[in-house]
Amino acid sequence: MKATMNSFKDKLSELLQLSKLQWKLASMIPQNNQKQLLKRIREVSKHVPCPHNESDILSFGIEILSIPPKQDGCIVEAGSYKGGSTAKFSLFAKLTDRKLVIFDSFEGLPDNTENHDKSIFGYSIQDWFSGGEFCGSLQEVQYNVSRFGELDVCTFVKGWFEDTMPNFEMSIAAAYLDVDLASSTKTCLKHLWPLVIPGGVLYSQDGDFPLVIAVFEDEDFWNNEVGCQKPHIDGLGIKKLIKIVKSKG
Ligand SMILES: C[S@@+](CC[C@H](N)C(=O)[O-])C[C@H]1O[C@@H](n2cnc3c(N)ncnc32)[C@H](O)[C@@H]1O
Repeated sequence: MKATMNSFKDKLSELLQLSKLQWKLASMIPQNNQKQLLKRIREVSKHVPCPHNESDILSFGIEILSIPPKQDGCIVEAGSYKGGSTAKFSLFAKLTDRKLVIFDSFEGLPDNTENHDKSIFGYSIQDWFSGGEFCGSLQEVQYNVSRFGELDVCTFVKGWFEDTMPNFEMSIAAAYLDVDLASSTKTCLKHLWPLVIPGGVLYSQDGDFPLVIAVFEDEDFWNNEVGCQKPHIDGLGIKKLIKIVKSKG
């Protein structure tokens, strides 16, 4: 997603959010490790195009750090672009000794006919999501992760989600979607949500796109295609980063 920091107010709120998250991080890992981690995250942002808010990445990173060590399950990222978010998540996966599985075409977005207009925050997202946008080759992503992240925790699954995800069978402790399209979000939910363990989480960074919101709100889709009742979705229709926790019951 293209930069959304339109105003001073947005910047201020992102800074406030970041400082809250850093406080939280400080309570989870020793200060030296925290400094080192934040420095490495900044390095990624300096050298790799990163179309995300740092606070969204930190929120998910903190989620990874919160998974009880005895809990089974890998971390999944759907949508890696040039590997900026991947490199950052790989740092958290390494710290917690978890595998990070990355799904992407590595050819950019698929051709599609989705008619995106404005985000819920009012800015235009027309023409953002044409086929081929947000392309990062597998080689480029692996190079960026090897320079700034932890390549050894990563497994890359190349191809269209529709083709690769149905074959995936690993238990998922935490999943992060940044896939822009409603159709891609549907495919991710259909194939990944059933693999999320009880107590596990799924985040989407596309919670500000009305067509994506419509997918999350669609009870028939949850019932008939995902195979469960629509869960509670934290922040839906209000926030960019939305979160679902899989119930333990
Ligand atoms: C906005 S970019 C991800 C940005 C990245 N998370 C970051 O912050 O740097 C969206 C990504 O989703 C991938 N993508 C979307 N739909 C897909 C599909 N159906 N199959 C495979 N890849 C898809 C694109 O290739 C692209 O890399």
